Amino acid sequence: MIRFENVHKSFGQHEVLKGIDAEIGKGEVVCLIGPSGSGKSTLLRCVNGLETYQKGRITVGDTVVDAAGRSIHDIRTRVSMVFQRFNLFPNRTALENVMEGPLFVLGERRAEVRARAEALLTRVGLAAKIDAYPNSLSGGQQQRVAIARALAMRPEAILFDEPTSALDPEMVGEVLQVMRSLAEEHMTMLVVTHEIHFAREVADSVLFLDGGTIVERGPAKEVLRHPKHERTQDFLRRVTHPV
Ligand SMILES: Nc1ncnc2c1ncn2[C@@H]1O[C@H](COP(=O)(O)OP(=O)(O)OP(=O)(O)O)[C@@H](O)[C@H]1O
Ligand SMILES: [Mg+2]
Repeated sequence: MIRFENVHKSFGQHEVLKGIDAEIGKGEVVCLIGPSGSGKSTLLRCVNGLETYQKGRITVGDTVVDAAGRSIHDIRTRVSMVFQRFNLFPNRTALENVMEGPLFVLGERRAEVRARAEALLTRVGLAAKIDAYPNSLSGGQQQRVAIARALAMRPEAILFDEPTSALDPEMVGEVLQVMRSLAEEHMTMLVVTHEIHFAREVADSVLFLDGGTIVERGPAKEVLRHPKHERTQDFLRRVTHPV
């Protein structure tokens, strides 16, 4: 579904991605873990054209994500993204936020879009909050609106960039629960996360990124329980037993 082949990305002289090779199969959940600054967000952002890359190739299905931007519109209608800080439109209700993409990007009919948006908000547990504005919602609720918004595009895959790390601890569970249910329905997901428990339970495989290189990869249970590489071991010790 999503393939990275020798992807290189620099900001000026600073090479941030140093030849990434990876694949996310259809229906797979892949968790991307790694220290701050290792390039996780950058890698995600290259998939839907929020960043350009200089070398190598990213493909979504048969479409090359082309750095010149010709395929970006197409890719963005097929791959949704959920951000750490929700990025909802503050002056639109939950329902309007969810309807926005299908109405204005996909050009679908309002009545149909509205029915789907209501169903999605109900699905993420927010039937009572359809007409609420983002600033009257908790972080966990806003993030669930953002997930409903991502789903409203009927995406082939969803990219999550630390979807729970801006949340108060008591709200993390409700968001992870929604993500778990998507995984059970075989949504293709690439998830940057520090939630190691979630990754161990839900992910099919894990990529450990450090310094712009994938240092270790494999089945989630293996990499997270028995990391082979010292850098992975160090990282996991730090995130599971923060000092
Ligand atoms: N727009 C930018 N301009 C210049 N440098 C950037 C830009 N965005 C990111 N970088 C640099 O690229 C590197 C990787 O950043 P990135 O945000 O991808 O890391 P990350 O793994 O997502 O980190 P975190 O866990 O803190 O979110 C960092 O050194 C960062 O400073
Ligand atoms: Mg990041």
